[in-house]
Amino acid sequence: MEMGALFVSVALKTVDALTLDEARLELVRLAKLIGYHDELYHRQDAPEISDGDYDALRVRNEAIEGRFPDLVLSNSPSLSVGTKPLEGFEKAPHLVPMLSLGNGFSKDDIADFLDRVRRFLNMEEGAELAVVAEPKIDGLSISLSYEQGVLVRAATRGDGQVGENVTANVRTINEIPHTLKGKNLPDSLDVRGEIYMAHEDFEILNANQLERGAKVFANPRNAAAGSLRQLDSSVTAQRVLKFFAYSVAEPNKLALETHFEILSAFESWGFPINPLTKLCHNVDELMAVYEGIEKTRASLGYDIDGVVYKVDNLGLQNRLGFVSRAPRWAIAHKFAAEKAVTQLEAIEIQVGRTGALTPVAKLKPVTVGGVVVASANLHNEDEIARKDVRVGDWVVVQRAGDVIPQVVEVVLDKREGGLEPFEFPTICPACGSRALRAIDPKTLKEDAVRRCSGDFICPAQVVERLKHFVSRNAFDIEGLGIKQIEAFYNEGRVMAPVDIFTLETRDKRSVKRLKNAEGWGDKSAANLWDAIEERRIIGLDRFVYALGIRHVGETTARDLARHYGDVEQWLEQMVEAGDQDSVAFLELNNIDGIGAVVAQSLVAFFQTEQSVAQVRALLEQVIVEPVVFEEVVSPVSAKTVVFTGKLEVMSRGEAKAQAERLGAKVAGSVSGKTDILVAGPGAGSKLKKAQEHGVEVLSEQEWIDLVKG
Ligand code: IVH
Repeated sequence: MEMGALFVSVALKTVDALTLDEARLELVRLAKLIGYHDELYHRQDAPEISDGDYDALRVRNEAIEGRFPDLVLSNSPSLSVGTKPLEGFEKAPHLVPMLSLGNGFSKDDIADFLDRVRRFLNMEEGAELAVVAEPKIDGLSISLSYEQGVLVRAATRGDGQVGENVTANVRTINEIPHTLKGKNLPDSLDVRGEIYMAHEDFEILNANQLERGAKVFANPRNAAAGSLRQLDSSVTAQRVLKFFAYSVAEPNKLALETHFEILSAFESWGFPINPLTKLCHNVDELMAVYEGIEKTRASLGYDIDGVVYKVDNLGLQNRLGFVSRAPRWAIAHKFAAEKAVTQLEAIEIQVGRTGALTPVAKLKPVTVGGVVVASANLHNEDEIARKDVRVGDWVVVQRAGDVIPQVVEVVLDKREGGLEPFEFPTICPACGSRALRAIDPKTLKEDAVRRCSGDFICPAQVVERLKHFVSRNAFDIEGLGIKQIEAFYNEGRVMAPVDIFTLETRDKRSVKRLKNAEGWGDKSAANLWDAIEERRIIGLDRFVYALGIRHVGETTARDLARHYGDVEQWLEQMVEAGDQDSVAFLELNNIDGIGAVVAQSLVAFFQTEQSVAQVRALLEQVIVEPVVFEEVVSPVSAKTVVFTGKLEVMSRGEAKAQAERLGAKVAGSVSGKTDILVAGPGAGSKLKKAQEHGVEVLSEQEWIDLVKG
């Protein structure tokens, strides 16, 4: 369609000023224009305008129809439903979450990984350990469900818990079998792997796109993602996508003992597996495979961004389990970063949620490893001084995998005269409060990070806390992302977390209705209200994490939720812990995994009146549910356990993880609340204290027998 003519009439009049004839013409124009952009977005994956501009067209169309109801066209965009981009995929919950991987960058990192694994499993230092090395494919992960050998569902990773159902599209991929062949097929099977686009097919696709005047993709990964997330599967069918299988959701359900055997089974069932995969036994063998793969990288014909190492034995994998969102039994060894040289145009200071002032390099855009980089991390004040980075300098920028690009060094040969050393601000650029570097009371050293002291009066901190509050692992409110939070804050709609939950009620009474605001409409506003309602009930772990307390990440939040059980109890205890002589303070410090720094940070948060007031206000609006950590029934569920002395069969880490999996709480020292003390050889004061308190004392073997039972 030739759109030039339609744009001629864009000298827009406000809806109120349109005559009847103008309105008629304008509705025709809008119907065509919206249809044109729908086509670009849905079928060609090449939008020309932003979502906001698109929504504005729809809003204008609806406003005119509201004023002239008799003019509504039979093909009006307001009558078509569900055309909003990418709302088209059904949600696909993963029965077993899809996880990510921890990263390593050097031989030392990998040796540390192997040591950690051995320590956790209580193996001898340097003992042989079978580990599989396989390329890390740079595509997108997919979960393929087979029932009786037939592909019934394909789901993207999404947030790891819930993905999108892309079955129709995946069925167009030749390398993914619709029906499995071979022996020992389980009734149901979830195969996980990576969908990717080969270089050759990527070049052909881009040449085609260019010819058609459609969007050109920046790299094969984006092209693969764009091709898979097509609402029209006939478009996916025209793109050549490929696949490698690399794991199953529930390995224990297969009667196999090793990861390597799983890969062989995959092959026999008809899945492609990566031919560079190797079984290794120590760090030197792993490094040899890594170097070999890195050498062939350029000629492989598809993108990889590292090598993944996985403990081969499935029994050991099971014992090792997971920490946060990544398995303890695997690690990604990333390739060395790619580098480029560009000019530093400015140094911007960003203020984070905890007040940290972070310098960000604003760069003349440059392509680093297939991705355009326009800003990079400068770490902190000392780093800028050490590298003597000055605005106007030419700098080396590097990017490794999905890590934020970094400024590595200045190219001094290229420095022009007259550049001034950078002066790091000592007042917050967002609120003008003093920005200070704290002194560590123990080391008496200055903290590397300068922090704004403005707290609740600093708009940057407030906005960052709000963004954290709605983020994926916190309240996770659909349709309320970074952009919307910034706009809502600037417009005065949301100034504190609680405002999110009173927004709809206040909006109804407001003259400035959200549905009339730029980029919004009836439907999108209604969707937001629904999304907020959906999140009024939240688990205690997410709630704790959402508050954005310094040093309280997801793992700590979970530890706290597990320990305190319900929100009122937690609040009361946190406030009481403000008195460092209190039982509450002792108890907090005694929670396994919570150190002095975290405890101090929690205490400081709850000694701040505004913080407590905000939490209280929130609790008027939301229901915080005690976290049910999978109701495990075991002989030790809900018991408080302390480990002391040397454990001989398990490591401390494994013992703790196992106890928690079985529903017990693990504490660091013996108190009136301790139910069981597991004492190995060399146990001292804790054993004595336990005996005094009449606490049940078990040997490691007795503990193992107990939990087995
Ligand atoms: S194993 C629980 N193996 O890397 C283990 N992942 O950074 C989960 N990936 O989301 C992953 N090649 O999309 C594994 N050979 C491989 C892989 C691989 C690519 C991706 C996968 C995952 C991401 C984690």
